[in-house]
Amino acid sequence: MHYFKRYFDFVKPYRWLWIFGILFAIILTGIDLYIPLVLKRFISLFTETPQAREEVLRVIRDMVIVLLIIYIVRAVLRGLTASFNHKVGYGVVCDLREKLYNHLQTLSAKYYSERQTGKIMYKLTSDVHIGEELFAHAFPETVINLIIFFGVSVILFQINFELALFTLIPMPVIAFLIIRFSLKSRKAWRKVQEELADISAVLQDNIVGMNVIQSFTQEKYEEGRFKTESESHFKAAMNAVNTWGTYYPIIEFVAAIGTIMTIWFGGNLVLQGKLGIANLVAFLLYLGFFYNPIISLGRLTELYQRGFANAERIFSVLDAVPEIKDKPGALAISKTCGKEIELTNVGFEYIKNKPVLHELNLKAESGKITALVGPSGGGKTTVIHLIPRFYDPTSGSVKINGVDVRDLKLEDVRRNIALVLQDVFLFNGSIRDNILYGKRDATDEQMKMAAALANAHDYIMDFKDGYETLIGERGVKLSGGQKQRMSIARALLKDSPILLLDEATSSVDTETEHLIQQALERLTKNRTTLVIAHRLSTIQNADKIIVLEKGRVVEEGTHDNLMSRKTLYSKLYKVQFKPQEKNTQGL
Ligand SMILES: Nc1ncnc2c1ncn2[C@@H]1O[C@H](COP(=O)(O)OP(=O)(O)OP(=O)(O)O)[C@@H](O)[C@H]1O
Ligand SMILES: [Mg+2]
Repeated sequence: MHYFKRYFDFVKPYRWLWIFGILFAIILTGIDLYIPLVLKRFISLFTETPQAREEVLRVIRDMVIVLLIIYIVRAVLRGLTASFNHKVGYGVVCDLREKLYNHLQTLSAKYYSERQTGKIMYKLTSDVHIGEELFAHAFPETVINLIIFFGVSVILFQINFELALFTLIPMPVIAFLIIRFSLKSRKAWRKVQEELADISAVLQDNIVGMNVIQSFTQEKYEEGRFKTESESHFKAAMNAVNTWGTYYPIIEFVAAIGTIMTIWFGGNLVLQGKLGIANLVAFLLYLGFFYNPIISLGRLTELYQRGFANAERIFSVLDAVPEIKDKPGALAISKTCGKEIELTNVGFEYIKNKPVLHELNLKAESGKITALVGPSGGGKTTVIHLIPRFYDPTSGSVKINGVDVRDLKLEDVRRNIALVLQDVFLFNGSIRDNILYGKRDATDEQMKMAAALANAHDYIMDFKDGYETLIGERGVKLSGGQKQRMSIARALLKDSPILLLDEATSSVDTETEHLIQQALERLTKNRTTLVIAHRLSTIQNADKIIVLEKGRVVEEGTHDNLMSRKTLYSKLYKVQFKPQEKNTQGL
């Protein structure tokens, strides 16, 4: 119930539409209930106390006029109620989806590293749709069915008390069946949703990795894996539907027994002269109305159970607490002074009790280039992740200008940092959109200048559409070197005082490497740069080189100074840059 209350908060902005939608539906129900009464009167015109022909014709004419008006009102209200209720339903879906998305943007790297993209996507696309079913269909129908049920009960008892008591006999059985069914159904529907989300996760992964599947000729294997997932959903869906399939016919049958008993008993009452024919016909017409709402309520229970199952999944996203957020009274970063980065006694673990960094101390001086080198898996990228607070350290502190980043405004910290990552991520859109990501309000001039400094302008102009060229999902239509230069252009445009650079290890030709190198030199100028260096030239330019191994700083100094010591750095350096053996792997 707790989840439904939260769901209802999303209806608040639409409450008047919703109330009117339901009100119109209630009037419609009243009309539907009124019509058998008109029919009853119509029949009694011919079966009861004979009246003058003119009188009968006059009553019939009046009835026709009234019915015509009623049906016009009914048509108008039917249109309005459908439109109002759907507007509420889809409005709730839309608002909920936006709220979920906004919340997703506040969640940190840890949240995403523990979840599958496809499953999160499923919650925002499919799961939220239950909102439409609940608010446009289930709730209004519940109100209507309850009104019909009670309204018809009153009418039936008014027509004939004894006969009405008869119709109530199957009720306890029906109620029992519906309660049993609703308990079973919720569990079954939760399973269906989970299975569907699994399919979505596998699909997302496989579509992105289609090249890998095809190049490793793993189609058969993936086909099997997908089949398993798909069939699990099939089984879960069949199980959920079968619950309904078992209970629904039984409920309907019990209701039919009620009708049969009424016919039997009602017929006897007519024969005994205790009940008029018009009344019996009206009674039987209303009887249809009587059991239907109960059966519908049973069906609606199923919808509510699905709603509960989905609400749990949706609200679990909204309930995920952002781990990385501003402290109350977080400080702004001063615009004028230099930006020095310092890590003091930093310990970090992604997984509990599996430390990746140990008591790490390092300093990147303002306006200088500090290089991080070391064997793969040593924790270099992890260090870079701690500065813009993708993760917070488990112990120790990360400071900018002597202030712990956790005491600073998160937005300020990130605004002061430009990141160029190992794995360049570009958005599906034009080159212009992607460069402007660095600064949305940059002028055309500024954008082109950034591209030129990043040595990207020339290749961009070689494209037929220039800056408007669409680069495809994640920039698939660009080469590795082109993507790197675009990400440098984006960082140049951002023009932040701190630059964190995780150089790509993938090899590019010497000419491109030279272009990238030149772009990087321009980028690092006058910035506090922390670079994970994989290229000889960057290392030689660095003011300081820090060697990381297994999460610890093992040595630091300038290139010459470290080379003269003949320790880890000089060993790594020699292995990588042996002239006869062009090894381009990470240093
Ligand atoms: N999200 C994560 N969850 C759990 N462990 C992680 C995660 N990211 C990295 N690690 C682990 O942390 C350690 C350090 O990884 P990191 O990416 O910092 O290495 P690196 O020095 O950048 O290596 P490379 O030179 O290969 O890029 C590795 O052992 C890695 O397995
Ligand atoms: Mg790395």
